[in-house]
Amino acid sequence: MNTTLTKKVQESFITTFSTKPLMIFSPGRINIIGEHTDYNDGFVFPAAVDKGIIAAIQKSDTNISTAFAIDMNESVSFELDKLKPSSEGSWENYVLGVVAEIQNRNRVVGNFNIAFSGDIPSGSGMSSSAALENSVVYGLNELFNLGLSKTEMILISQKAEHNYVGVNCGIMDQYASMFGIENNALLLDCRTVEAKPFEINFKEHELMLINTNVKHSLSDSAYNDRRSACENIASLLGIKALRDATEADLLTIKDQVTPENYQKALYVIQENNRALKASKAMTDGDLETLGALIYGSHEGLSKQYKVSCDELDFLVEQAKLNKHILGARMMGGGFGGCTINLISKDAVDAFKLTVSKAYKEKFNKDCSIYSVKLSNGTHVIK
Ligand code: GLA
Repeated sequence: MNTTLTKKVQESFITTFSTKPLMIFSPGRINIIGEHTDYNDGFVFPAAVDKGIIAAIQKSDTNISTAFAIDMNESVSFELDKLKPSSEGSWENYVLGVVAEIQNRNRVVGNFNIAFSGDIPSGSGMSSSAALENSVVYGLNELFNLGLSKTEMILISQKAEHNYVGVNCGIMDQYASMFGIENNALLLDCRTVEAKPFEINFKEHELMLINTNVKHSLSDSAYNDRRSACENIASLLGIKALRDATEADLLTIKDQVTPENYQKALYVIQENNRALKASKAMTDGDLETLGALIYGSHEGLSKQYKVSCDELDFLVEQAKLNKHILGARMMGGGFGGCTINLISKDAVDAFKLTVSKAYKEKFNKDCSIYSVKLSNGTHVIK
């Protein structure tokens, strides 16, 4: 967690609202494997990281509430009994949505002020949105003694995303951000919403993120379209979710779906299996197999599920040229954001140089390279 940023957020809150706030850190996440499987009741393998959202929050004794996005230098004030979504794409929907969903659960929040800033770029596929939602629900739960469990809080964050932001996301991001464990990744069963922690020590290898610094538009509608396609195929198969299907099951309805949607459902079934195989490879310390599964995941996301883009594909191709990289793939919803790379520690510096240069030459744009530590989930900063 970033102490300089914490100080900045705290000071900015005090200057703006003249009271001392409660400080919350809410992390972003990475995902080792298991992409677009969460809303199919499948398995994912995320971890919270040491970057995310820092929020300062306190009760207000006025009859309005105010949210201040420090990085954008924008604030909005709202009345708690008149909440409605703002225009599409605006950051305040993450805050308003959480408050509205708390109210939908018959909990009473009073007026409050919140200021926040973050150190993960939005659109990086590291889930700054779930981090923000979780910081709001966590802070309000503390301030107003709402008695919400962590599981209730993440469901509230997820509903905020569905109903206010307009993205019908799964539960991975909110779960990882809330329940993260230092040095661990979580094999999460998105049906039971229960996870098994795996201590991550890749010895002479590490995970490296490369941000394309692009976020192609329409990604939200493409996301929702894919979710509906998966749900339609599950109902054709007479099952609750694609998690319950095998490749053989899918074959039985092949002539009832478009070839495109067939490939999408096939991807989900295969990716779910890859996530389970990855957990076995990790238990066995078999990084070669883990890496191959990660490359396989990218191939499926790009060719079958069609949520990649030229920039992401290029970065994965660059990784494949380097024998010190065991696996690489796009991470998160897609259409931009980061790739995650399983790379030999000795090779990091050289690869950074080559890949940065190649990316710049190809796209006339810089990529950004991050190293992250796996961290604890949303908590109060003491
Ligand atoms: C986004 C969503 C998640 C998940 C990923 C893809 O991050 O918020 O719920 O579906 O995309 O795995």
